[in-house]
Amino acid sequence: MIYDNVLQLIGDTPIVKLNSLPEPHGAQVFIKLEGLNPGGSMKDRTALYLISQAEAAGQLRPGGTIVESSSGNLAIGLALVARQKGYRLICVVDPKISPVNLSIIQAYGAETVMVDQADEHGNYLRARLDKVQALVGQLGAFWPNQYNNPNNPEAHRRTTAQEIYEAFGEKLHWAVIPAGTCGLITGCSLGLKEHIPGIKIMAVDAVGSVTFGMPAGVRYQIGIGSAVVPGNMRRELYDEITHVSDAEAFSTARRLVNEEGLLVGGSAGAAVFAALKLARRLPAAEKVLAILPDRGDRYYNTIFSDEWLEKNGIELEKSAVKI
Ligand SMILES: Cc1ncc(COP(=O)(O)O)c(C=O)c1O
Repeated sequence: MIYDNVLQLIGDTPIVKLNSLPEPHGAQVFIKLEGLNPGGSMKDRTALYLISQAEAAGQLRPGGTIVESSSGNLAIGLALVARQKGYRLICVVDPKISPVNLSIIQAYGAETVMVDQADEHGNYLRARLDKVQALVGQLGAFWPNQYNNPNNPEAHRRTTAQEIYEAFGEKLHWAVIPAGTCGLITGCSLGLKEHIPGIKIMAVDAVGSVTFGMPAGVRYQIGIGSAVVPGNMRRELYDEITHVSDAEAFSTARRLVNEEGLLVGGSAGAAVFAALKLARRLPAAEKVLAILPDRGDRYYNTIFSDEWLEKNGIELEKSAVKI
């Protein structure tokens, strides 16, 4: 297949069956590998759709500037799309960003602004949003506002959910989806429930995230979880909610690369941890799909580093036993 440009590579990611991790008596578990998007995550889809809708609405004109707050993946997606379409991009990031992501964003030609004021739980979201507002005011820039922009879930309703339906038809029982801004889960829930009668959605959140009313706490998972309740959260669309700890997420990410040959990120580990637990209580004829948001090569120095885990007091063995 020959493509005209890199943006045409966004989407149409593969679905793979897990063979080693699931228990033989439970449901079958499949994963959708969003890390195979050209920028390395499902946020490429979001970035492309947010920018094209802003163009259509006249919020972004040729040569214009985009400012966004991102933990890394939306920034990378926006950097890829913005450069291809000739826009200036300023990403507001925080010290929790992986150094690899920071280098990727800069390699794509985007500018970065680092905030340094954390709240009492070590979260920087408030500081990042304040900085974005200031820059948008100064520069007259377009702010995609991924936490509240309905085009964030819409990107996934139109593409990710559609691809899942095309692959499984009506023979999918559960989708297990990590929640950060809730763009991925809300869009997929809407799209899948439109097409597949009776499908159930499991939201996967990080322990320490406030999205579903749990107390705020320290967490090292990137992308999954939030320090504020996102405007794109639609609780009524999610049938179950599960909270996964850092150790559970990271130990599952390590098992995925060791046992299934899938080098994926920590939120992918969280999604698979939740999917395996769910599959154990379902009949063997049922099918569970976990969406894995990004690839793992961004996390060599963090979740795949024993030193980094030890420094942050995260013990993997205990949680690996719990799966
Ligand atoms: C690695 C990773 N996982 C999960 C998510 C959550 O996706 P969403 O923001 O659409 O809820 C993100 C979002 O940035 C992410 O980067």
